[in-house]
Amino acid sequence: MSKVHNFCAGPCLLPDEVYRGAAEAVIDFNGSGLSILSISHRSKEFIAVLEEAQHLALSLLGLEGKGYSALFLQGGASMEFLRVPYNLMKTKAGYIDTGNWSSKAIAQAQAFGEVNVLASSKDRKYAYIPEGIVIPRGLDYVHYTSNNTIYGTQYRDVPQADCPIVCDMSSDIYSRVYDCDKIDLIYAGAQKNIGPAGLSVVLVRDSILGKSGRVLPQMMDYAEHIDKGSLYHTANVFAIYTSLLNLRWLDRLGGVEAIEKINNQKARTLYRAIDDLDYVVGLADVEYRSKMNVTFDFKEEQMKGIFDTMCAEANITNIKGHRVAGGYRASLYNALTQESVDALVGVLHEMKSKI
Ligand SMILES: Cc1ncc(COP(=O)(O)O)c(C=O)c1O
Repeated sequence: MSKVHNFCAGPCLLPDEVYRGAAEAVIDFNGSGLSILSISHRSKEFIAVLEEAQHLALSLLGLEGKGYSALFLQGGASMEFLRVPYNLMKTKAGYIDTGNWSSKAIAQAQAFGEVNVLASSKDRKYAYIPEGIVIPRGLDYVHYTSNNTIYGTQYRDVPQADCPIVCDMSSDIYSRVYDCDKIDLIYAGAQKNIGPAGLSVVLVRDSILGKSGRVLPQMMDYAEHIDKGSLYHTANVFAIYTSLLNLRWLDRLGGVEAIEKINNQKARTLYRAIDDLDYVVGLADVEYRSKMNVTFDFKEEQMKGIFDTMCAEANITNIKGHRVAGGYRASLYNALTQESVDALVGVLHEMKSKI
């Protein structure tokens, strides 16, 4: 079968060797004669998987030995919208609204206390990242979303505040060098640069926990999950193993420093085409463009049909924009190759001859 160029925003593609490793483990996990789907989450074999995954989850972001714990939990990033205020909100938290996912996080936090929306880019369809925000003192934490998956914007730096910083890094975790140790709690749905959907990874500085004064249901309590080593209940064994294969792949490649160079090149190639071609428009402000989710559209309606047909012919798939944003979106996660970006850029250029 000829190569399919999959630009899906999530669940996204993973490296071929990860697919192969996961498929092999479904039949025979590490020569044990057992499927990974059928081993106990408390077996010593799986504990070794979990511990290595926790180690890589922290070390790849330079967080190991700095007082953080790594958790592999279930429920996706949306569950963390809820767990974060459960664990950290005493009375008042600050949220920066840079898109649909931030808005959803805000809506969940409002059930726990006062949410101070410190800034929002909603006024211009989330095409930018608000700057120069004055963060008041006395907040329990500040929450932001490092990469806006739907509208295609991305933070360059970590916001500064005198309280714990919480970041939803679902769509750009492990994609670049970033000051992660300035963040006190990072969470991410696994289905972009980590592994299969349904899992969330939480990297939390232990010292910020246990201060909410709230009695927490155990499933919601990060401290309980840390105490039980992510095994409070049956872990998502297959998703964690597949994530480990992917984290190992990134580690062998040279970590975030190496993948950042590759990701920069992919983004450069695509944005250059968007800027060079007068019938294509980028949807995000240039200085805030995401290197993971590139959003664009065509000036003329009729060009969309031409583009759709040519994409189908070139085996380019999952390129439509999110339903709330419209237009197009090419997601350039870690496993997407330059070859796929080149195929897309080829179509964007060749369209000219069809107009
Ligand atoms: C930035 C961001 N946050 C949160 C989510 C929600 O993740 P989940 O579907 O795992 O709950 C997504 C999903 O795409 C996302 O992109």
